Amino acid sequence: MNEFLELALEAAAEAAVIIRTGAEQPKHIEYKGDVDLVTDTDRRSEAAIVGRIRKRFPDHAIVAEEGSQGAPRGAKYTWYIDPLDGTTNFAHTYPCFASSIALYEGEIPVVGVVVNPMLQETFSAVRGEGASRNGKPIRVSTVSKLGASLVATGFPTHMRHNSANMDFYWGFTLRSHGVRRDGSAALDLCNVACGRFEGFWEFGLNSWDTAAGSLIIQEAGGKVTSLDGSEYPLGGPTILGSNGLVHEEMRELSAEILGKVAAGKSGTIAR
Ligand code: IPD
Ligand code: CA
Ligand code: CA
Repeated sequence: MNEFLELALEAAAEAAVIIRTGAEQPKHIEYKGDVDLVTDTDRRSEAAIVGRIRKRFPDHAIVAEEGSQGAPRGAKYTWYIDPLDGTTNFAHTYPCFASSIALYEGEIPVVGVVVNPMLQETFSAVRGEGASRNGKPIRVSTVSKLGASLVATGFPTHMRHNSANMDFYWGFTLRSHGVRRDGSAALDLCNVACGRFEGFWEFGLNSWDTAAGSLIIQEAGGKVTSLDGSEYPLGGPTILGSNGLVHEEMRELSAEILGKVAAGKSGTIAR
């Protein structure tokens, strides 16, 4: 097996044990912002993942949400780590959270792994080699109309009052089977990859939220861009991931909603 994938899977498995154990215990919650939570389990998970990577590849750079860094200048490879994606869910023991680990060579994704410790699902992808769930190949869905799609989004924990996403939530609700707001962007992306959702969008995600899931979608045959259809730069201000077939419809509806918001006509999208 690819040595990078092997390491990512080992690290994710250790993180999953830490998170599952933490889920059954009282939570120690701190606030990084208004509703931006962090727990001791986030930090324990990050320490375990980063420890393994540093030991095996001390020359690789690390970008991890809770602040671990290891950035040898000019490093060829960078690991993007969200040690616990869905911390708000975790804090409330709502069982929808994950750990996300990805390796990039410059801007090129190499490996992505997302583990859901409660469902014991591990999603993974290697560039050019496809995507899998618990070792079995996965593909995006074949639904080709937004009107017959289940889609997902999330809301930012910072700058909440300036988000146009309420208009998006409403607009997409009227034009699809429904919009889910599960609270873990990494899992939302994987749920597109394995065909549960047709599409996902969000504003203001960070590199660690999307690095693994965006590769997993693409390797499962789907598409990832910014909301306006342009190339998605890792950690860019918007992301649109889909099965490819409903991508253009989602992009068009996004443009329509943004146009209404700009014209001061919030909440006026018709069915
Ligand atoms: C959050 C989750 C959530 C998304 C937020 C993220 P965190 O990550 O991915 O689904 O809507 O924007 O910040 O803070 O739980 O790692
Ligand atoms: Ca996150
Ligand atoms: Ca996190």
